[in-house]
Amino acid sequence: MFTFYTKGIYILLAIKSLNTNYHQVITETLRMGNVIIGVMRKAMKDVEVKGYVIPKGWCFLAYLRSVHLDKLYYESPYKFNPWRWQERDMSTSSFSPFGGGQRLCPGLDLARLEASIFLHHLVTRFRWTTEEDTIINFPTVHMKNKLPIWIKRR
Ligand code: HEM
Repeated sequence: MFTFYTKGIYILLAIKSLNTNYHQVITETLRMGNVIIGVMRKAMKDVEVKGYVIPKGWCFLAYLRSVHLDKLYYESPYKFNPWRWQERDMSTSSFSPFGGGQRLCPGLDLARLEASIFLHHLVTRFRWTTEEDTIINFPTVHMKNKLPIWIKRR
């Protein structure tokens, strides 16, 4: 779900610098570094979206990630800021890391729970250092050098 080498940077940055709760950290990580960038669909009939027609039979990728990083919906979208979720409603169409509608991910609560347990043990039982690295945002989020990390028990 969250690998150290790709999504880990957001979690590590947050925990090192912020004293916010796990829920907000996980939500912000899902916004910026979700493993799922979008969902595939097939048009069962001609569909018109804002003047563009998706012809019947065509497959397309709804690129959820572009919405998560759109400054129309998020102030400073490339800034990792768990605090934004203090005030903000998660249940809007501008936040859909688990998809939506009939195909909404049934594992979303389990995924959040697993991430919370992982984070709890990481911050309470371990220390770590990382090398400098660069986040690549397109087309999927990953670290340029895979973010090597050294972990030690406290
Ligand atoms: C961070 C973790 C996870 C993310 C980001 C995620 C994301 C998603 C997304 C976006 C979809 C919708 C796919 C679509 O509309 O085509 C989906 C579907 C699904 N997910 Fe997850 N998921 C996660 C964890 C889990 C877990 C832990 C389980 C089960 C234990 C799970 C089980 C499923 C299943 C069975 C579907 C298919 C639902 C259907 O087609 O009706 N997912 N997931």
